[in-house]
Amino acid sequence: MVLHVIPGRIIGKRDMAIYGQFLEHFHRQIYGGIYDPGNPLSDADGFREDVIEALKAICTPIIRWPGGCFVSSYHWRDGVGFNRQPSFDKAWRVEDSNAFGTDEFVKFCRKLGAEPYICTNAGTGTMEEMSDWVEYCNLESEGRNARLRIANGSREPFSVHYWSVGNENYGAWELGAKTASEWGTLVAESAKLMRHVDPTIELTAAALSDVDWNISLLRHAGDYLDWISIHEYWDRLAEVNDPADYETVIAMTDNIDHSIKEVRGLLDALGLSGRIKIAFDEWNLRGWHHPKVHRKVQGITKEEYLYPRDLNDDNSTYTTADAVFSACFLNALNRHSDIVRMAAFAPAVNTRGCIFTYDKGIVLRSTYYVFRLYTEKLGDIIIDSWMANPERISVFNRKEGKTHSVDECDLLATAFSDRPGYAIAAVNKNSSKPQSITIDLEAEGTAKLFTIAPGSVDSYNDVDRTEVRIEEKDLGPYRKGMELQLAPHSVSVLQIGV
Ligand code: AHR
Repeated sequence: MVLHVIPGRIIGKRDMAIYGQFLEHFHRQIYGGIYDPGNPLSDADGFREDVIEALKAICTPIIRWPGGCFVSSYHWRDGVGFNRQPSFDKAWRVEDSNAFGTDEFVKFCRKLGAEPYICTNAGTGTMEEMSDWVEYCNLESEGRNARLRIANGSREPFSVHYWSVGNENYGAWELGAKTASEWGTLVAESAKLMRHVDPTIELTAAALSDVDWNISLLRHAGDYLDWISIHEYWDRLAEVNDPADYETVIAMTDNIDHSIKEVRGLLDALGLSGRIKIAFDEWNLRGWHHPKVHRKVQGITKEEYLYPRDLNDDNSTYTTADAVFSACFLNALNRHSDIVRMAAFAPAVNTRGCIFTYDKGIVLRSTYYVFRLYTEKLGDIIIDSWMANPERISVFNRKEGKTHSVDECDLLATAFSDRPGYAIAAVNKNSSKPQSITIDLEAEGTAKLFTIAPGSVDSYNDVDRTEVRIEEKDLGPYRKGMELQLAPHSVSVLQIGV
């Protein structure tokens, strides 16, 4: 196969925020995850330093918090001040100590050098509570909320720039769910109040690829929004924890960017795509496992609804399949970088995250290395490229019972805004066959190949087990027509003249 790269045709300049992360008060993402006071690996503020270093190494640019479903019954005042009382988290039906709140979140982001992005409670919360949170974070000193922040020890405003009205308020599983007509009005009025507090914030609201929901939202609140948010998990595991096998996951890469195309089309139709951007602010191949809460009939015993959440911690779940899928999705985000300007991997730490913590250290799961590869080695200028007659493979989705035909390889060509050279991301989805790609690109310089090519489709990392890593290979002087060899089930970045 030949990849034709056209350096003169620029698709877009990707925003680093597409490599963002998400953290929710769920299971061990916060408590026992990033926040582990008393652990020797934590700093004086209780944050795990090994986690901070790992998130810094993937250039984490933005973190969305505190949910997710959790936020739809969360009251931010419970998580600030010197006398924090535990509250019952009605979303996930556990006690939250409130030891980790707004101040801790902002401090964590500052240590990382990441932008804080706060999602507000549009479930049981009010528009006043949402805008009071903006007061607490962003006003200099006017009013009781800014004065409360100062009294809590932060004289300077937190300057939280990114805010969301609500989470997935369209979903029956969400506490305080709304109808499409209720939603548009609530978002508009909440956004108005929040903007009266700080007109400089950027606002998003929960959307999805449903036309009626989005039309109502955009008609009522479009004037107040800078973004709309969409979420997607492909391997749904909430009730039954049976992770999809490699071939099924590859079938799930079929039309992987359908949500983006649908929302882009609607924004175009409404004449808003020049102004409103897409935040894909929850995505993961693997849905989270939390049986008997995302449904009308709740589990009764903790064995039914709580203890099974520990199954998310099984590191053997996160294999080569996760890395290959995540690379295909990040390629799609880069291709749509003109309108998708932010994304958040759900979540960053534990549950289905790319980093797993245990009392004596961390495990970097397979997808972590894709973030490492893309944030470190790929360019920010997305250039046009195409393949004549790309080879296709038929793959069976055993969960659907359907066969899909997908491109065998997923390639993305990039350049750099701050230096010469090119970088080409190349995914070989084939489970057994290597692939050779001829690079049709006029360029000079040394060629270097950075590859994630685990031994099998089921390779994974765990404590004292590292099967997934990045290998580096110097290919010598580049020449037009170079043959790029791709191992089976692999993710690579070829750098030319960088
Ligand atoms: O499974 C986790 C949930 O997925 C998040 O809390 C929510 O935003 C999404 O439905």
